[in-house]
Amino acid sequence: MGAILIAGAGGFVGARLAADLRAAGIPVVTAGRGHGLDLCFDLHDEPGRLLRALPRPVDDAVVACGIASVDACSREPARARLVNVERTRILLAALLEHGIRPIFLSSDLVFGDGALPHREGAPRRPLCAYGRFKAEIEDFLWRTGRPAVVIRAAKLVNPADPTRCPLVTLARRARAGLPVRAARDQWITPTFCGDLSRLIRTLLPRPGSHLVHVAGDTPTTRFALAHLVAGRAGHPEAVRGCGLAELRLPAERPRNARLDNRRLREVYGVAPTALGELLRSALEAAGGSRIPGPRGRARTLRPPPAAAAG
Ligand SMILES: NC(=O)c1ccc[n+]([C@@H]2O[C@H](COP(=O)([O-])OP(=O)(O)OC[C@H]3O[C@@H](n4cnc5c(N)ncnc54)[C@H](OP(=O)(O)O)[C@@H]3O)[C@@H](O)[C@H]2O)c1
Repeated sequence: MGAILIAGAGGFVGARLAADLRAAGIPVVTAGRGHGLDLCFDLHDEPGRLLRALPRPVDDAVVACGIASVDACSREPARARLVNVERTRILLAALLEHGIRPIFLSSDLVFGDGALPHREGAPRRPLCAYGRFKAEIEDFLWRTGRPAVVIRAAKLVNPADPTRCPLVTLARRARAGLPVRAARDQWITPTFCGDLSRLIRTLLPRPGSHLVHVAGDTPTTRFALAHLVAGRAGHPEAVRGCGLAELRLPAERPRNARLDNRRLREVYGVAPTALGELLRSALEAAGGSRIPGPRGRARTLRPPPAAAAG
């Protein structure tokens, strides 16, 4: 088996993937704009240079680089499209040309509001530029007719990377008693980055094309999640509930784009990590939880009564 290239290995997701795959004994070549990577790479570079510099043969390449901020894509759509579509397409074409199978990280935001949970074959109706760019790249890959992998991920968390994990950031704010506004009408499904690594490990020995969703089992509103985390951090009063529209975010988002994870479980044998585990780790990383959470199976979090939210 050849190595796996991770483009964007300095980023939140790429760094975790590189560490997990290496820990599993898989040869990894890291590339990106950060320090300490095997190869320096910017999407604006000519990708042939990157591929000629590979220190060993590579079979698969995770493309985890680009503009990952949903709002930045809506604020500056032309600049974001250049990076996330045009330059990404050039990298993907070069990988395919070199016989390297791309593993592209797409998103639940290729879906708008619709029948839930979204299965892999459900119609895509992105509401924002970020989601439209992801859908464009998916279409590009399928049009080539070459083996490629598209993984649509829900909101990824990694408490082991406390400075970048959104759950730890939330817990830290709450512990410090800083105010948090969270939408009562927007649902997310926190999903462990380590589950993405496990999926990629199972994909490496499987040839051909794959489209698969990675999502946890526990959808929750942003408000319910924030309230729970802040409660365990000792400051439930820090969280104020609001409507998604009140936040006036640059990018329109679906209220719920929950991904169906049956294929992840049944075809690839990956059981998502329970939300309770992730919360416990995030609170520990943020400085400890006052109230230990329940161990075991994930469950749907229900928002507390409106009166409790203030
Ligand atoms: N995080 C999630 O919840 C999530 C969910 C679904 C899909 N995804 C996708 O997963 C991928 C990684 O996301 P992430 O959360 O790890 O974001 P991130 O931490 O911002 O990582 C993105 C990486 O891309 C690099 N990058 C940006 N512009 C680049 C360019 N022109 N050339 C080369 N590298 C460039 C960044 O480098 P710098 O640090 O130097 O800017 C960074 O290392 C993205 O495609 C994102 O859309 C993420």
